[in-house]
Amino acid sequence: MQFGVHTGELSSLSADALVVPVYKDGSSDPATRAADDLLGGAIARAVACGEITGKTYERTLFHVTQNRKGTPRAVLAVGLGAHKDLNAVSVGRYAGAAVRYLGKRKYAALAVALPAAAAKAFAAQSAERLAECAVAATFDTTTHRSKPPEDAVVTARVTLYAPDGDATVLARALARGRVIGDGVNLARVLANAPPAELTPQALAASARTVARQVGLTYAVLEPAQMARLGMGAILAVGKGSIHPPRMIVLSYRGNARSKETLALVGKGITFDSGGISLKPGERMDEMKMDMSGGAGVVGALAAIALLKPKLNVIGVIAAAENLPSGSAYRPGDVLRAMNGKTIEVLNTDAEGRLALSDALSYAVAKLGATKIVDAATLTGACVVALGYAASAAMTNDEAWCKQVLEAAAATGERYWHMPLFEDYTTQIRSEIADIKNTGGRPGGALTAGAFLKEFAGEVPWVHFDIAGTAYTDRESPYQAKGPAGVPVRAFVAIAEYLAGGAATLNGKTKAWLRSSPIEPQRHAPPFNNGAPSINGTTRRAAPARAGARRSR
Ligand code: BES
Ligand code: MN
Ligand code: ZN
Repeated sequence: MQFGVHTGELSSLSADALVVPVYKDGSSDPATRAADDLLGGAIARAVACGEITGKTYERTLFHVTQNRKGTPRAVLAVGLGAHKDLNAVSVGRYAGAAVRYLGKRKYAALAVALPAAAAKAFAAQSAERLAECAVAATFDTTTHRSKPPEDAVVTARVTLYAPDGDATVLARALARGRVIGDGVNLARVLANAPPAELTPQALAASARTVARQVGLTYAVLEPAQMARLGMGAILAVGKGSIHPPRMIVLSYRGNARSKETLALVGKGITFDSGGISLKPGERMDEMKMDMSGGAGVVGALAAIALLKPKLNVIGVIAAAENLPSGSAYRPGDVLRAMNGKTIEVLNTDAEGRLALSDALSYAVAKLGATKIVDAATLTGACVVALGYAASAAMTNDEAWCKQVLEAAAATGERYWHMPLFEDYTTQIRSEIADIKNTGGRPGGALTAGAFLKEFAGEVPWVHFDIAGTAYTDRESPYQAKGPAGVPVRAFVAIAEYLAGGAATLNGKTKAWLRSSPIEPQRHAPPFNNGAPSINGTTRRAAPARAGARRSR
């Protein structure tokens, strides 16, 4: 997807459709009034008679009948809710909802008005989220069909319309947002891949390809090296599959003088059948996404490589396939993890914590991690606790967790702090070994967190359980169903926060704007079809590229 910025008069803007905001409390935006002039007051009439209420994601399409050169074919009024609730994330989703609505109806080039209130208080943050959401809105899960569906989102160009905006600042913010959106979609492509295609080895190969494209260092441990390092836990998980495990490492060096290394660690179970403790058949197909945490690491590291925050980041992906077979690990087995702890296996379906345990030990003991965040589709219990509305966050260091949650809050991804009381550690003590891999049903997300804590050692660590958020079985106005790209946005925000200042939801922190200037032309992420990046700060939108396809 290409982006541009248009400042000044509406009359010189060219696009197939113009998107404008409408609010619940009747307050109106200057761009909406300007668009309404093109429509002879149709928006105002629709508001007056109650057809338009302004509630969030309400979309009303008006066709422009006058046929003057340069006028858009249509105007889409999109509800933004109450004026006072406006923030950068809601601006982003307003654009995402417009892209999905208009893109399905074959509008290739959109102009999206930056809400005036956002332009005043948090213009750059809004533009960043707007580009991210617009890119994310083009993703869908139909890539394996022989023909794209009739209602495929075709939007290929978005021009931000900001009458009084600073074109340079906005263009830079759009370029940053695009990079994050591309990272989100990359993670979703991986999470959506069929498990026979995306084996641990294939996940490693994808990580390597991405690393080459964006300039990350790639390394991988194969089973023999993993055995030498004593990674008995992840190796046991992979024993039932003909596709052996991999420990994948991506590294980004953004600050040679810093002693800080942020480790982003992801669960990479390419398919989770439950193993010998086999899962029920219903919806087992969805367990192809049990590598969403690992996919998030790849997507986030790709974005980080392009955004260039001034710190060092490593991504570690614990990749394995959990299948039953004659060579599979069993309930009753005792494993020895890399850090020397012994684990009694009570349920082979509690495999994620086993794979992650060795990834955490490796990050701590061999990769010099000084701060850790892991993400895993770890427990059904987390879905019971928080539903699909939020991921759980657990920690061994409250101060670090506070920073992590603050950074993540500006992204729209939701994380909810849950406790790791000593009681949960007691609950996973084993008679046979040091710990057991399940603590039973009570507090299942928390005993899983307590298990991981045993492997983070003294390093400040936060665990995200994304079991309820990584995958959606319903389309939303701004997002296709299927993989959601969680935790890419949070991971990127955490890295930027740790590098010294990040965007906040209300626009109070500006420091991030000064850091990490990116060169969008040179670093156009090739993982996005090699499409060119932001097209400068033109005053006139370029025509849509003929036959442009979705950005993946
Ligand atoms: N990958 C699953 C957790 C999961 C469930 C993710 C639903 C997304 C949606 C994980 O490996 C698992 O099977 N966990 C077990 C643990 C139990 C055996 C202690 C679970 O939650 O049932
Ligand atoms: Mn499982
Ligand atoms: Zn699993």
